Amino acid sequence: MCGIVAYIGHREAYPVILKGLKRLEYRGYDSAGVALLNEGLKVYKKQGKVADLEETLVGKDLHSNIGIGHTRWATHGEPCDRNAHPHVSSNGKLAMIHNGIIENYAQIKQELIKKGYQFTSDTDTEVLLKFIEDIHTNNGGPLEESIRIALKRVVGAYVIVVLDENNPDTLIAARKGSPLVIGIGKGEHFLASDASPIIEYTKEVVYVNDYELAIIKADELILKNLGNERVTPFITKLDMELAAIEKGGYDHFMLKEIFEQPHTIFDCLRGRLDAETGTITMSGIQQYAEQLMTANRIIMIACGTSWHAGLVAEYIFEELTRIPVEVEYASEFRYRNPVVNKGDVIIAISQSGETADTLVAIESAKEKGAIILGVVNVVGSSIARTSHAGAYSHAGPEIGVASTKAFTGQLAVLTMIALKLGYMKGCITEKRYMHLMNELNDVPEKVATALLQKDHIREIAHKYKDATDALYLGRGYNFPIALEGALKLKEISYIHAEGYPAAEMKHGPIALVDDKLPVFFVATKDSFHEKVLSNMQEIKARKGKVIAVVSEGDDAASSLADDIIVVPYADELIAPIINVIPMQLLAYYIGVAKGFDVDKPRNLAKSVTVE
Ligand code: F6R
Repeated sequence: MCGIVAYIGHREAYPVILKGLKRLEYRGYDSAGVALLNEGLKVYKKQGKVADLEETLVGKDLHSNIGIGHTRWATHGEPCDRNAHPHVSSNGKLAMIHNGIIENYAQIKQELIKKGYQFTSDTDTEVLLKFIEDIHTNNGGPLEESIRIALKRVVGAYVIVVLDENNPDTLIAARKGSPLVIGIGKGEHFLASDASPIIEYTKEVVYVNDYELAIIKADELILKNLGNERVTPFITKLDMELAAIEKGGYDHFMLKEIFEQPHTIFDCLRGRLDAETGTITMSGIQQYAEQLMTANRIIMIACGTSWHAGLVAEYIFEELTRIPVEVEYASEFRYRNPVVNKGDVIIAISQSGETADTLVAIESAKEKGAIILGVVNVVGSSIARTSHAGAYSHAGPEIGVASTKAFTGQLAVLTMIALKLGYMKGCITEKRYMHLMNELNDVPEKVATALLQKDHIREIAHKYKDATDALYLGRGYNFPIALEGALKLKEISYIHAEGYPAAEMKHGPIALVDDKLPVFFVATKDSFHEKVLSNMQEIKARKGKVIAVVSEGDDAASSLADDIIVVPYADELIAPIINVIPMQLLAYYIGVAKGFDVDKPRNLAKSVTVE
């Protein structure tokens, strides 16, 4: 996920772009850059935050009435000046910014290398730009035509904006899959990933659709499809205030991130899971496939929510691969003297990739000869670099301190690894492999359906917001989801909450049950379902309040509960990714109802870099 801003008109472009990039910084902040036309094409870029770029440009002559800018969240290539956008063509005439992923960039790059092109970055963006340049050099004609030809070949998602020294009065932009908004002013146009950089200048905007190309001059906007036919721009009036859209229209980053999950999970699966051909491609860990196949044991190391993802993965890995799995808190693992043998594979799970305990734990396991695979969200982070190999969860920047979309991304990655490994080892039949692959493929849609329950969940949240304690119960694959529900509630609403395996409740926590205690059950249909229903009855018999997440059409569970939240049915191995959604929303709405700052809960930090 990256942020893009561009301007053409009568104002100075640089201040407009700089301010816009600051507003979009939630989309990525590992490097930033701008390109301007000031006696030729000038490109300035810098690793770090937008403020770092700003600092290096103090005192420079940045006069220009046209320009493009970018704030990056690295996907291809580590965060550094070299990989920062804008990228520049070999002839130095074109500059381009890009948000998205070009999946077939490697193949195009090979073709360009054979033609003699050289690359200065590791990005897919530079490949696309030089591909456009190559077509333009060979074909001549208008640049927009070369861009159209190139985009027809591209697989993946993009918003691009191209600045051409030879056409100083025109910007060309195109989109597929990633967002692009064009603000229409008087004799000026603004382009951005969302409306936040635009709103203070104009409320008239055009949301560019997939497969559309925009040719933008100060006083003219032409939209065309990839077939070169003109499309009438549909002008929308923004009905929002500046403050609201800084979070993309959501009240909090946490809510925005919860609602992003259909897209972030889709992004995580994209290019890896192909349910049609029955293939799972995890190129990041491919080189360690043999070690995984022959592993004596897998140890998952993580903290907090990431540790819960490890617990779900333990059940899935053991079921599908028959390799023994242990899940360790990184903070415990690093200080005790754990037995780590050659042939053990460590999977380190972390959103930030900077959690100190996890980092030190994997360093010590590495010294003992273990293979370390990282499942990390932040590209280029310390854990990603320290691991031997890994797979990114591709959830995009997570700003809300309570982890939501990173968790579902971790589950998606870990499930793909387990599924591929189990199939390669011959532990699961082709039929089951294909079934689970299809189930995983359906997750983004089912998560979107679960999110439709938001108003109902808010009502339930209001009903139970004054509870002083809460119990979360689940079995099997859903036991860690109960733990995660309890953790979310604690973090955001400061209500004391405990997560337990539903059966374990009888061995102590049942003493807490009275007519005031809300007991949240994860009770979707799976092989433990009848048992979970019995546990619900045990709570009801003691007058506890039962709130249950149930599968659609499950009348038995519904009749036992005081409140139900219905989610789409999924295979029990896949269901946790969907079942956690109501848990996140419940915690969010209870926290909001209590008036707390859910994005920055007290005493917490997004990235725990001290032990
Ligand atoms: C909970 C939460 C924390 C983190 C934990 C590990 O909502 O965010 O429990 O999961 O601090 O952080 P990462 O995943 O960055 O290693």
